[in-house]
Amino acid sequence: MAIPTSRTKEKAEIRINEELCTGCGLCIEVCSDFGLVIENGKARPGSSAVFGCVGCGHCMAVCPEGAIEIHGRTLSPEDLFNLPPREKAADYAQLLTLLQRRRSIREFDGRPVEQEVVDKILEAAVTAPMGLPPSDVNVLVLDSKEKNRAFVKDFCEFLETIRWFVSDWFLVLMRPFWGKTNDEMFRDFVKPCFDIFISRMKKGENVVTYDAPLVMYFYGSPYTDPADPIVAATYAMIAGESMGLGTCMLGAIHPLIQYGGKARKFRKQYGIKYASREGLFVIFGYPSVKYNKGIKRTFASVTRMN
Ligand SMILES: Cc1cc2nc3c(=O)[nH]c(=O)nc-3n(C[C@H](O)[C@H](O)[C@H](O)COP(=O)(O)O)c2cc1C
Ligand code: SF4
Ligand code: SF4
Repeated sequence: MAIPTSRTKEKAEIRINEELCTGCGLCIEVCSDFGLVIENGKARPGSSAVFGCVGCGHCMAVCPEGAIEIHGRTLSPEDLFNLPPREKAADYAQLLTLLQRRRSIREFDGRPVEQEVVDKILEAAVTAPMGLPPSDVNVLVLDSKEKNRAFVKDFCEFLETIRWFVSDWFLVLMRPFWGKTNDEMFRDFVKPCFDIFISRMKKGENVVTYDAPLVMYFYGSPYTDPADPIVAATYAMIAGESMGLGTCMLGAIHPLIQYGGKARKFRKQYGIKYASREGLFVIFGYPSVKYNKGIKRTFASVTRMN
């Protein structure tokens, strides 16, 4: 048995070097698959694995002796690297400052985002946790204003072909099926989005991705935990912020390119491999505006259990 993903459907292979293993039990402690046991003072694969080795790599990352190796599900010992020391990590005050200074930026100064910066964003984003390894997150990168604009122009043309989707007759028809909340969302948000995206683009103004010099689209596969692309996109956004970029998440495009033959054609045109439950666009660029104040935010609710 193994958990299927778009990248692999096999369980990983566990190899233990008994000569190196001291039987310390650390690998057993961190294996969330309950796939390891100690027998005769040595670690070995047990018989009560829940899914079969998912290839999280925790056992070989924790082993002080280098006695355990995982092969498969895209993982191998070559994927291990030496951890930077804790003192080098951002502390809470640094992180909070970075987060508090962030604003959604939709105004850019025209400078391109350097390739090294694009690579660093991806390097940071790929460290994001995922429902189950290996990550089933896919990323589309549009690394210039021109590529961004071409994408949005095609997107708006595609929207025109599915405009019936927000027509009054269709919304009246659908209301009994998808209920009041969806009806409100479509009338008060989706329909105005269609109108403004299409009409502004016709005048040469991009209010979909704001002509940012870098766009990244994080999306999943039919297997992906729906939260995974969102988590990765969040990491990417924070990485961009740490390098002085302005960023903005864009939720409006993903849901509109999921359903129907025309959406499939659009996805194919841009090498988007799958339709997926959740996905998120993030735009990046050097900001042309500077905010003077932060804005205090609140959650809808925070309930602390007694
Ligand atoms: C999931 C998500 C989707 C968003 N979608 C859009 C969008 O489609 N267009 C846009 O201009 N801003 C979008 N935003 C940015 C929000 O409007 C912005 O975060 C919000 O107004 C608060 O402003 P702040 O980010 O500066 O705190 C999105 C943000 C998130 C988290
Ligand atoms: S962590 Fe390493 S040394 Fe310790 S029991 Fe597991 S394989 Fe053996
Ligand atoms: S890779 Fe993960 S699931 Fe596999 S044996 Fe190691 S800790 Fe367990």
